[in-house]
Amino acid sequence: MRVLVTGGLGFIGSHTVVELYKAGHEAIIVDNLCNSKKAVLGRLEKITGVLPKFYEIDCCDYEKLKPVFANEKIDAIIHFAGLKAVGESCVKPLEYYENNLISALTVARLMREFKVKNLVFSSSATVYGLTDHAPVTEEDPVTSAINPYGETKVMIERILEDIQKAEPWMNIALLRYFNPIGGHASGLLGEDPNGIPNNLMPYITQVAIGKREKLHVFGDNYPTPDGTGIRDYIHVVDLATGHVATLKKLETNPGLVVYNLGTGKGTSVFEMIDAFEKATGVKIPYVVDAPRPGDLAVSYAKTDKAERELGWKAEKTVLDACADAYHFQKNNPNGIE
Ligand code: NAD
Ligand code: UFG
Repeated sequence: MRVLVTGGLGFIGSHTVVELYKAGHEAIIVDNLCNSKKAVLGRLEKITGVLPKFYEIDCCDYEKLKPVFANEKIDAIIHFAGLKAVGESCVKPLEYYENNLISALTVARLMREFKVKNLVFSSSATVYGLTDHAPVTEEDPVTSAINPYGETKVMIERILEDIQKAEPWMNIALLRYFNPIGGHASGLLGEDPNGIPNNLMPYITQVAIGKREKLHVFGDNYPTPDGTGIRDYIHVVDLATGHVATLKKLETNPGLVVYNLGTGKGTSVFEMIDAFEKATGVKIPYVVDAPRPGDLAVSYAKTDKAERELGWKAEKTVLDACADAYHFQKNNPNGIE
């Protein structure tokens, strides 16, 4: 398939481009570089042997995006493009609603106009909101998220459901990612956050290379065995192969489908520190701070549906992810330059 990958130079998008080529697909990347670097393209070429076609375009810009649809014979779209920092979304809700909603609407409009049959949308476990149980299944209610970022995912899911109902020829997959971590085994691709990392793994890797003094553990008094928060960390390469499996599913014309992409296993913050130390031999100093507002105690996926219907499951371990994340961070102490 010829796959339009929006946000294809970002963390998950770049790994997915690699897996698309591996599976015999072709990727056409659209990215406005608001949270990625053009240098990722050269790295993709190094890994895949192919320089993917790249358009530096904002997906909110209908007029600029239209020629891409007109000129490239697109069979499927994977829409990764979006802003994703939870804290920032509380400070800049307007920018988050504007960018995430308008880019998704523009992509959907062009999909309809050019009769592109297949769309995969990057949703998030955040759509399950402040749920008090784990694991969560795809049938759990999606009511309201905890922050503007999460709300954009809830809203876009609803919008895409309505569009698919009105255009039954469309196949749309809503993929709810849990916590992607790790990087490509080559050390060329990984997570490259701007400024102070919000997420656990990039913070740990920056402590590991001495860029930050110590990890701040956000609370050790949760109702979990060791008191720290539990999440479902999925290796980004597994997440990427999940997209390839989803495209295969869409080829069977299923209409609208929803899948959790996680491992089904929970790991606490303390367990993650242990795993990292085991995988890399590097000690991670930490202090326990107050809990972060809005954090859940426990979040992990029920993965049976994806296993059954996509024939896909996460294969890599948290130790693999720690080793790969560290490899990338060591090779790129200042991120991708
Ligand atoms: P990322 O920031 O690394 O990648 C997103 C890419 O989209 C970036 O390259 C950015 O430059 C680009 N982009 C943003 N807005 C754009 C626009 N209007 N037009 C064109 N390009 C634009 O983030 P990621 O971690 O790779 O996440 C990809 C998707 O997955 C996002 O939609 C995110 O919300 C979703 N998601 C991520 C996580 C996570 O923990 N990383 C979890 C759940 C869902
Ligand atoms: N944590 C720390 N210290 C840190 C960072 C995180 O202790 O410096 C803890 C958190 O409290 C949490 C766990 O590590 O218990 C994971 O936190 P992350 O920030 O890495 O991930 P979250 O589960 O909070 O958030 C992620 C994505 C969001 C998404 C959410 C739900 O970053 O975009 O999952 O899907 F909305």
